[in-house]
Amino acid sequence: MLSIKIQTPATSANVGPGYDIFALALHEPRDEFEISLNDSGRITIEIENNIQNIPIEVKDNSAGLATLELFKKKNIEHGVHIKILKRMTSGGGMGTTGASAAGAIFGLNKLLNLNLSVNEMIDYARKGEIASGGSPHADNVAAALLGGFVLVKSYNPIDVLKLDLPDVPVVLAAIKKSQRTTRGFITYEIGQEKLKEQMARCSRVIHAIHTKDIKEFGKAISVDYIHEPVRGAAIPRYWDIKKKVLNAGALGCTISGGGSSVIAFCPPDKQEDIAVIMEREFNTNPNFVKVITTRTSNTGVRVIN
Ligand code: HSE
Repeated sequence: MLSIKIQTPATSANVGPGYDIFALALHEPRDEFEISLNDSGRITIEIENNIQNIPIEVKDNSAGLATLELFKKKNIEHGVHIKILKRMTSGGGMGTTGASAAGAIFGLNKLLNLNLSVNEMIDYARKGEIASGGSPHADNVAAALLGGFVLVKSYNPIDVLKLDLPDVPVVLAAIKKSQRTTRGFITYEIGQEKLKEQMARCSRVIHAIHTKDIKEFGKAISVDYIHEPVRGAAIPRYWDIKKKVLNAGALGCTISGGGSSVIAFCPPDKQEDIAVIMEREFNTNPNFVKVITTRTSNTGVRVIN
């Protein structure tokens, strides 16, 4: 086999209190990739219709960087061309860089018959994330590869667990970050009381998924003391809009991944109303792109040819 076509889902990382350890996959949008082997001895990246100006320099592109890492560790000298059709908003907390890195590693694992385990694929793919946020966080790449809800059980060594999610309607206000990453402003120095509450919330999220209790899930994901205070401060009227969305019947609302997108989980009969509220409230934000209505998905990356 010389080439493969795959599709990788958008993902929402952190899922409230699980900074860098939780993520979930969304049904839409999905990026598409065509990965082809050649004998050029070079890694090349192409983005179809690159209106978002995504870097195509190998070291600056998450798919390119993850591929470099894999080729270096495995002494692979093939040439490879990675063609990407981006449907996700870049820089909007939808895991777009994670999708690219995960797609590249998944595709190359198949094309080159490398027999990598899931944890090995996650470990290579997360290195690609350094190209965008400077940190090899595993949450987005894991959800992109596996689908469903993922929880990082250990970073050293990488060990990730996938849990199936009930089908939950989602409204996501896609908002681009005004800076490349806000990770540098986040502190773990949150004090004993908040740290205990944070750990309690993480346990509550996992329990809610095990018991398929989506109301409980919504409550559990709506509190975070690590990244939400920092990223929320960078989104005009975030706290006020979050309150409106919850008052309108959303099960839960938080910031998606590295921000600035805002994600709400909804009962099916409230999804449309909440989409209208998000559209109205975020419309004046200069970085607002669009409202996406979708749902959680248990499907990760998949081959499409
Ligand atoms: N856990 C990462 C962060 C996700 O919060 O920066 C980025 O999508």
